[in-house]
Amino acid sequence: MRESEDRFPFLMACRRMPTEYTPIWLMRQAGRYLKEYRALRRKFSFLEMCKNPELAAQVTLLPIQKFELDAAIIFADILLPLEPMGADLEFAKGEGPVFHHPIREMKQINGLRLIEPEEDLAFLMEAIRIVRRELRGKIPLIGFSGAPFTLASYLVEGGHSTNYLFTKGLMYQDPLAWKSLMEKISEVVIRYLNAQVRSGAQALQLFDSWVGCLSPHDYGEYVFPHTQRVIDGVDKSVPLIHFATSSSTLLEQMRRAGGDVIGLDWRVDLGEAWQRLGYDVAIQGNLDPVILLGPVHLVEREAKRILDLAEGRSGHVFNLGHGILPNTPIENVAALVKIVHEYSSKQELKGRD
Ligand code: CP3
Repeated sequence: MRESEDRFPFLMACRRMPTEYTPIWLMRQAGRYLKEYRALRRKFSFLEMCKNPELAAQVTLLPIQKFELDAAIIFADILLPLEPMGADLEFAKGEGPVFHHPIREMKQINGLRLIEPEEDLAFLMEAIRIVRRELRGKIPLIGFSGAPFTLASYLVEGGHSTNYLFTKGLMYQDPLAWKSLMEKISEVVIRYLNAQVRSGAQALQLFDSWVGCLSPHDYGEYVFPHTQRVIDGVDKSVPLIHFATSSSTLLEQMRRAGGDVIGLDWRVDLGEAWQRLGYDVAIQGNLDPVILLGPVHLVEREAKRILDLAEGRSGHVFNLGHGILPNTPIENVAALVKIVHEYSSKQELKGRD
């Protein structure tokens, strides 16, 4: 750890060092549940906002100005590096992301470019530099990327999917093409994450949001080697959070693939999951985002329940089990942050001595 980092509870928890309270940030904290974000979105498209460093920095800081969060996450999207690889990304109204020419054949895979993030995604690197300047060392900034499987699923499906028929089809029917696609994406993800660290990101999160659609066997065969290679190839001076959803059957393998912190969704019991993973790795999570819709006494009860499951052990970063929902009342977010800080600072501590 860099010397200057040992005053940030979030970074200390990522390294399983004792902290005075459990740090908290929220996936998708820079987004649509904030009225200031929705006001900006009436003037700019989502991609326009991502590609304008001043705007992206402004949105990153919105939740920080409202709540006592322990980390900021840069406003961007996991799909951004796919555009300079050669995919035509569009965020269609009401549909989410769309790639009009899905990648399903070796010929198309061979045509994908390996990106130069400092040039191809210069806007993001600049946004990171602006946010670091504006934060003035108050809290650390997280950079992120999609993991190879989740990124491949968007390229192959052409958008979001329920059954991943084309992705699994490519995997099973043309394993060489799948390997080649995963290797190319992995190289891009390594470059992309390391460029974010060079620009000032102080921690990283790898989102493998949709990998839970695979059996443990298929994860081991078609995903594990690539995710492991990515994590091995990333700058070790910053902690890395390895996150997936519907991943309870994959946790041990995710752990082996790497990461200083394993991100849990809400479908697993945090106490059991940590025991399975081993206490020599940090964990993040795992409040169901729906709880945050209220009422506030439910938010408080569930937050305390999760903190009790963590037993005050060093190495717990409080978060939701997946992104915050657009219709979340901001009073509930404020109440959550407060209760996590207050309750955890009074907990009987295990391993915090
Ligand atoms: O956490 C943060 O606040 C940082 C910003 C961030 C966004 N997307 C902004 C965003 C992060 C970390 C992401 C990650 C992301 N993007 C993931 C992985 C996390 C997860 O939720 O599983 C995925 C799968 C995507 C892809 C994506 N981006 C989808 C499917 C969509 C449309 C549906 C949706 O959830 O909105 C987006 C758009 C998107 N990314 C928005 C934001 C704020 C909404 C854009 C809008 O204003 O309409």
